[in-house]
Amino acid sequence: MTRRRWGQRSGLVAGVLLWAGAASGQVVPALPPGQPPRAVTVPPAEPIGDSIYPHLGQKGLDVLHYDVTLYIDQPGTRGLRGVAVLTLTGTRPLNVVSVDLLGPTVQDVRWNGQPAVWQQDVAAAKLRVTLPAPLPAGQRAQLTVTYAGPAGTLVDPELGLDLGWVPVQDAAGRPVSSYTLSEPDGTRTFLPVNDHPSDPATFTVHVTVPPGVVVAASGVGGAAREVAGGREFTFEQRQPIPTYALAVQVGPLERVDGPAVPATGPEGGPVQRRDYFPPDTSDAVRAPYAQVGEMLRVLSGWFGPFPFPVYGAAVITPRVPALETATLLTMPVSSSSERVIVHEGAHQWFGDTVVLGDWADVWLNEGFATYAELLWLESRGDDPGRIAATWYDRLRAQPTRPLVATTEPQLFDASAYLRGALALHALRAAVGDAAFRTFLRGYVQDHSRRPVRTADLLASAQRTLGPVARTVLGVWVESPTLPPLPAWHRLP
Ligand code: TRP
Ligand code: ZN
Repeated sequence: MTRRRWGQRSGLVAGVLLWAGAASGQVVPALPPGQPPRAVTVPPAEPIGDSIYPHLGQKGLDVLHYDVTLYIDQPGTRGLRGVAVLTLTGTRPLNVVSVDLLGPTVQDVRWNGQPAVWQQDVAAAKLRVTLPAPLPAGQRAQLTVTYAGPAGTLVDPELGLDLGWVPVQDAAGRPVSSYTLSEPDGTRTFLPVNDHPSDPATFTVHVTVPPGVVVAASGVGGAAREVAGGREFTFEQRQPIPTYALAVQVGPLERVDGPAVPATGPEGGPVQRRDYFPPDTSDAVRAPYAQVGEMLRVLSGWFGPFPFPVYGAAVITPRVPALETATLLTMPVSSSSERVIVHEGAHQWFGDTVVLGDWADVWLNEGFATYAELLWLESRGDDPGRIAATWYDRLRAQPTRPLVATTEPQLFDASAYLRGALALHALRAAVGDAAFRTFLRGYVQDHSRRPVRTADLLASAQRTLGPVARTVLGVWVESPTLPPLPAWHRLP
């Protein structure tokens, strides 16, 4: 079991909540009072089998698209109501569909529009549905879930911070805004999801908020239309992304559109620019975002085209780590530096597009993102050899490990970030810049929207660069001790 804890739920439920939706047919906000819930048990499905988070996801379930409608009556609280329509299929025949949901209470479930037989297992944080007939592999179906808050509470045990749907209050305790911060498994606090990066999906996000409140989310769009009681904002995330990479923010945000960055985006097209800032954001905090266009030029030169047609950041005030939410970085005021923005920018390729097959391989995200910091600083005139030596000194001062993690505390440790980055630096030092660039671009192209494991990276190195390159990388991946720092001479 996990050491994560979850807290306050509505007083309604303790332990396993068993409701049959079949009799209900209600939409938001609630079952009619007095209607007796009918107990149903749906057998658990086999989880994906992640080596760090074995309970997450369902094996064989492939969610293609999430159409999400959220009603946020009071930003800055956990209150929310939602309707999620999952377009899904199976990579093998399915009798049961089981999605992760931690916190909100399910009110109604439909399978292809018809009332379904379902169970919300609160203890297991799963919503399970018995299918009226087995779903053949490859056949599409629609699962519609109507639910209401409070959003779940989930604390990252290593970082000690709130994950998922996080409310923000002002100094006087008044509710102000809410943001999502979901790596690795916080999205299930506000949305029923197959909550594992190996099942990336597209998203449509509609959020209705009171007058004056602004919504920012991953994807293109963001226009508002007047609806009863406020405004509805809509975003389309048309490239599949992992569930944790979905950003949603609601609050008194200022949207700032910038000039598109030409020729850095998908198929050589432009990347549209937009950022969101909370009230009274200083010029010093805004300043580094003016470099984003230049960052896209430098990084796309190494990694290939930026994977999304739009990019920017949404800034938040709490002192938490930055997160690489797709197309819309979640950037704390305290992290708004060029270096962090470049790091999160590189994750748009490594993590958000080349997705993890298992959390044990998270160095494949963090190593590349950290190495991008060096590539950026180098483009500004810094010496790569000096940066690598600084990383090496930091690593030497502490225990290290092979790069594939075996425990949760290892996921975001110095080995994942710095040793991961040095593995790439060692490869570059051995093969030269031209071959390294070809390798990076090939790895991204071959694995976009496909789950990768460390073995896939090694195989890619062997294929593109040959057995010596595979060995150089392999030593950094596998050695129980810290390999020697390669001497740095730039090779063309
Ligand atoms: N992926 C983040 C980064 O390095 C770090 C991170 C891990 C994180 N877990 C998180 C950030 C949870 C915020 C919340 O860019
Ligand atoms: Zn990172």
